[in-house]
Amino acid sequence: MLKIILLWVIGIFILLQAIQIDIPEPPKTIDPQKEMQAPKEIASLLKTSCYDCHSYQTTLPWYGNIAPVSWEVKSHIKDGRKWVNFQEWENYDEEKQQKIYKGIAKSINLRMPIPMYMKMHEEAKLTTKQRKMIRTWAESFVKEEE
Ligand code: HEC
Repeated sequence: MLKIILLWVIGIFILLQAIQIDIPEPPKTIDPQKEMQAPKEIASLLKTSCYDCHSYQTTLPWYGNIAPVSWEVKSHIKDGRKWVNFQEWENYDEEKQQKIYKGIAKSINLRMPIPMYMKMHEEAKLTTKQRKMIRTWAESFVKEEE
């Protein structure tokens, strides 16, 4: 009995592998001029903590191709890039850039980087001081509306 259950589990697992999410291919040429320019310390924090999901420079971990985990990982990358791709920054209009700055200031304390991601990526963890630095930097661009 146990053997049959085990075979079923393995079988289903193998079948799941056929269902994969595709991340759109990055463009062949990525114009470095389009990348967001930030002070060095900020840029380097964004690169280590955000670029996996918010740029074309994605390093997919080994489990990133194994369903069902891959569905979660790849949808994060897909949705993350849609929200902001720091390498597409100069293509965004002012309204979108404002929305992103505001979003960063708001989400940097709790929501971003995604907590699950940080469990697997020690290097992406941000200290309270680093979060504050990013928030202050993002807020400095937010234009107050009347
Ligand atoms: C593991 C992938 C991942 C990482 C790493 C990540 N993000 Fe995100 N981010 C997402 C996804 C997915 C969304 C859109 C869905 C959502 O809001 O949960 C998102 C949304 C956002 C938003 C939109 C507002 C919001 O809170 O929904 C902002 C701003 C943002 N991310 C900033 C950042 C910054 C800044 C970092 C680095 C400090 C970062 N993200 C790291 C995946 C990621």
